[in-house]
Amino acid sequence: MKKFYLIGNWKMNPATQKQANQLALSILRGVNKLRTKNVEVVICPPFSFLEEVNKKLSRNVKLGAQDIFFEDSGAYTGEISPSMLRDVGVKYVIVGHSERRRFLNETNETINKKLKAVLKNKMTPILAIGEKEKEGQGSIQEIKDQLSFALDGLKTSEVKKIIFVYEPVWAISGGDKNHKAAEPNDVLGMKIFIKKILTDLYNKRLAENVPIIYGGSSNASNVKEFVYDGEMDGALPGSASLDAEEFIKMAQVLTGYK
Ligand code: PGA
Repeated sequence: MKKFYLIGNWKMNPATQKQANQLALSILRGVNKLRTKNVEVVICPPFSFLEEVNKKLSRNVKLGAQDIFFEDSGAYTGEISPSMLRDVGVKYVIVGHSERRRFLNETNETINKKLKAVLKNKMTPILAIGEKEKEGQGSIQEIKDQLSFALDGLKTSEVKKIIFVYEPVWAISGGDKNHKAAEPNDVLGMKIFIKKILTDLYNKRLAENVPIIYGGSSNASNVKEFVYDGEMDGALPGSASLDAEEFIKMAQVLTGYK
């Protein structure tokens, strides 16, 4: 049975703890009904909601964080350490999201440190990579650089644990439901390219086995194309993950994969 990942990135939403609890509960109820065995469903609320949201969840929906800091403790005002995340039940951590690269000046070097911190603390990293410009000249090189810098110093046994997200920056909705996603065929091309880089950096076996999921305006209407035509191992929706019904429909599509 093919395994999929559906990872909801709530970004800086919703506004209150109460709404976050409601959203988590609605998602959990919907996912429970699916009795899915092949889809790992993860939701990534903002830091301040993690603990309470985790109390609502069960095995069927796991808790993820949207970011992490790479030091264990100390004088780092405003940061959240790996052990703090683990302590509130976080199992997955998104690292290298393009919005953090863009608005928070996150560099390949910090992403590399964060990846190492997630792995050291026995959580699963979700590494986001993606080119900035559609059909940009340098896009292939951009992806290659992002991957090789992010993975610098990591062993095969560690890289095997990463979930890769191919998320072209230009396809991210920014909250606009009509924003256009990438074309599944192009996504498949990029998947092959990512696997080639991983083969060069590590080995073919690793490249074939690591999950690569799609992000960027994914929703219940297009997720099917991404897994069938784009051969993706799942999706990382932002906007669509804030709508419980839409998100559950995505899980349903993946559950029904034949
Ligand atoms: P989107 O966000 O689905 O709203 O495009 C995806 C993401 O940025 O993770």
